[in-house]
Amino acid sequence: MSEEFKHLVRRHFEEVLNQGHLDVIDEIYSENYTLDAPVQTDGASVAQGQTKGRDGLKKRVTLFRTGFPDIHFTIDNLVAEADKVTVQYRFQGTHQGKFLGLPPTRNHIDVGGILIARIVDNKIETAWSVFDSGDMMKQLGVVPPKKVHRLLHIDSSPRGWESYSRMISKEFVTAWKSVYPNGIVTYVDLTKVVLPPMTAVTARLLHQGSVDESTLTPAEIQTVSAVNALVDQFLVADFYVFGVPMYFSHVPAVLKEYMDFLPYFGKTVVMNPQGVEGLVTGKKAMVITARGFDYSPGSPIEAFDLQVPWMRNALAFIGITDATFINMNGLDSGEGAINKATTHARTTIYESIESWAFSPA
Ligand SMILES: Cc1cc2nc3c(=O)[nH]c(=O)nc-3n(C[C@H](O)[C@H](O)[C@H](O)COP(=O)(O)O)c2cc1C
Repeated sequence: MSEEFKHLVRRHFEEVLNQGHLDVIDEIYSENYTLDAPVQTDGASVAQGQTKGRDGLKKRVTLFRTGFPDIHFTIDNLVAEADKVTVQYRFQGTHQGKFLGLPPTRNHIDVGGILIARIVDNKIETAWSVFDSGDMMKQLGVVPPKKVHRLLHIDSSPRGWESYSRMISKEFVTAWKSVYPNGIVTYVDLTKVVLPPMTAVTARLLHQGSVDESTLTPAEIQTVSAVNALVDQFLVADFYVFGVPMYFSHVPAVLKEYMDFLPYFGKTVVMNPQGVEGLVTGKKAMVITARGFDYSPGSPIEAFDLQVPWMRNALAFIGITDATFINMNGLDSGEGAINKATTHARTTIYESIESWAFSPA
């Protein structure tokens, strides 16, 4: 019996696949035939696909024979046991016709695979086929597009080169560039940009997700597009670094003003039955704070630190839960404290950037 089964499977490779005799499919396949294989018959994708029935198989064979008219399968090993035949095979061919939407490349491919066929009533009833479709696509020159990483660098200290938060956020950008040399950095200096005004129209836009522009003046339309540009610029980034001085226990007003535009219903947050859900997910943030006093855990003024909890909550509100904080404490307390704070900041930058490199956004 096993010789007969082997013969059926050999006919599939020789007569159907190599010679293209589709009528042989009616002879050797069951009407209820199913095949699980990596390339879908409809050519829609290279994802795992299922081929059903004799017609489905005819389409699949035609798909391959159209793409590779000289396709040739070689059987390297063929083993039969009980109702199953296992084949280790290779196929070679030249990409001369359209295949999975890809115009002919003339590339020659050589791909290996394994097929297990189950025989019922002397017909192939089920088959499982696995071949290295990723390797095949590589040989065809189809390489998945490389992701471009984007870092949005936001500074908010007005103190230029004297600013500690600016100094460290800049060093962070250099470290990030060493991990993502082709990454794109966009810089926003909040002490220089002119932010859109928070007006009745802007408030409505953020709350409702849109406004009817036919009711707006040209100046209002300009404001709406400035808010959209600000939020879109924020959204396109995968990584964020914020340089944040502490002013009166909090973030500087200009940063608060900027961040007030970020909870934008429909773009960065949505309302669901559980409450507000942040949409800015899968991203990483680094927040570098600079403060005159020491607010470290256990310090008598720890509770006066409204800067870190607010930044953490604000980012989490829109979905950025992966936020690392580098808090430079005691910057108004002499050289020793400054050295301690900057050394801590630099060490944390390198530790974080290393871990980011292994778990990219
Ligand atoms: C207007 C203003 C308010 C400040 N408020 C605080 C404060 O509440 N707590 C604190 O520890 N330091 C405070 N400082 C000190 C700054 O946080 C500190 O100088 C820090 O280094 C500023 O950041 P930068 O070096 O990046 O400019 C304040 C400084 C200014 C100018």
